[in-house]
Amino acid sequence: MKIVNVKEKKIKPDFNNLGFGKYFTDYMLVMDYDNGAWSEPCICPNKEFSLDPSTTCLHYGQGIFEGLKAYKDENGTITMFRPTDNIKRMNNSAKRLCMPELDEKTVYEALKELVLLEKDWIPVGGGRSLYIRPTMIGTEPVLGVHASHKYKFFVILSPVGSYYAHGLAPTKIYVENEYVRAPIGGTGEAKCMGNYAASLLAGELANKKGYDQVLWLDAKKRKNIEEVGSMNMFFVFGKTVVTPALCGSILPGITRDSIIKMLRADGYEVQERTVTIDEVVKAAKKGKLTEAFGSGTAAVVSPVGVLSYKGEDIVINDNIMGPITKYAYDKLTGIQNGKVKDDFGWVVKLN
Ligand code: COI
Repeated sequence: MKIVNVKEKKIKPDFNNLGFGKYFTDYMLVMDYDNGAWSEPCICPNKEFSLDPSTTCLHYGQGIFEGLKAYKDENGTITMFRPTDNIKRMNNSAKRLCMPELDEKTVYEALKELVLLEKDWIPVGGGRSLYIRPTMIGTEPVLGVHASHKYKFFVILSPVGSYYAHGLAPTKIYVENEYVRAPIGGTGEAKCMGNYAASLLAGELANKKGYDQVLWLDAKKRKNIEEVGSMNMFFVFGKTVVTPALCGSILPGITRDSIIKMLRADGYEVQERTVTIDEVVKAAKKGKLTEAFGSGTAAVVSPVGVLSYKGEDIVINDNIMGPITKYAYDKLTGIQNGKVKDDFGWVVKLN
């Protein structure tokens, strides 16, 4: 591994007031792809790099990314949560976007080295962590519409607090009935930049109406619940937990998968199936929708307090976090922080 030292280290931010993705550490990891092969990983100063104005990713959006986290406990033990699953998912996104796959072991080892080098940037406890953002972009300077022949893979690190400014308070979600995020056969299950760009307008409009996020429905009939863009969704009907099945147009969330496995291991019934917005609205009206929550690396487990559909606000569990949501949050964060035994082999110790 090549390491280029930084000349002057940054002043660290106040770890009690981090927000999400605002501060970046001193180093990043970089690999370049040219002539059919990836370069050796290099840990180098996190700073600007230049791209020719004709660069493919700037015109045709050939770009993918991931999000995972590292944690530090009170004893200084540093861990990462399911890193190899993120690398595997990145390779799946790469295949969909016609980009070269990464060697999983090389990236895994390089990630570990980068996180250890930046261990002083990992905040301890309080729902805080070091967010790891691997990204890959097409870098060939050419305007023809075809897959780039050159790529840059980089990983930046950001100490983070909670994703939502209001922390664990329930979110207000706007069910989007006009715009769609991704159709079947599109790029919905890849973590590609275009999916997020396509979501921005609806997100802005929802924010203006006072909602935090948009809940996407299927592109064909606007009936089936898909995801929230930054989160997969779970609905609790009494004792049964239901989450939309991975149908090709939603992201296969690693936190989603962790919650399903955790809940099932503890005896909860979790169904992965089609969930329609009509079913959710009807159940809410009959008092049978007892909880709703979202899951994601950044969002962790976030209770949903209000769903707005066709002009009507549906309040869930009196807009307070319900018991199954709290259970999922406590157990997941407990495993991630080393306070709850990890029976699944998800936590990787780095020191
Ligand atoms: C994540 O949860 O890591 C995400 O990538 C969602 C969002 C911050 C884009």
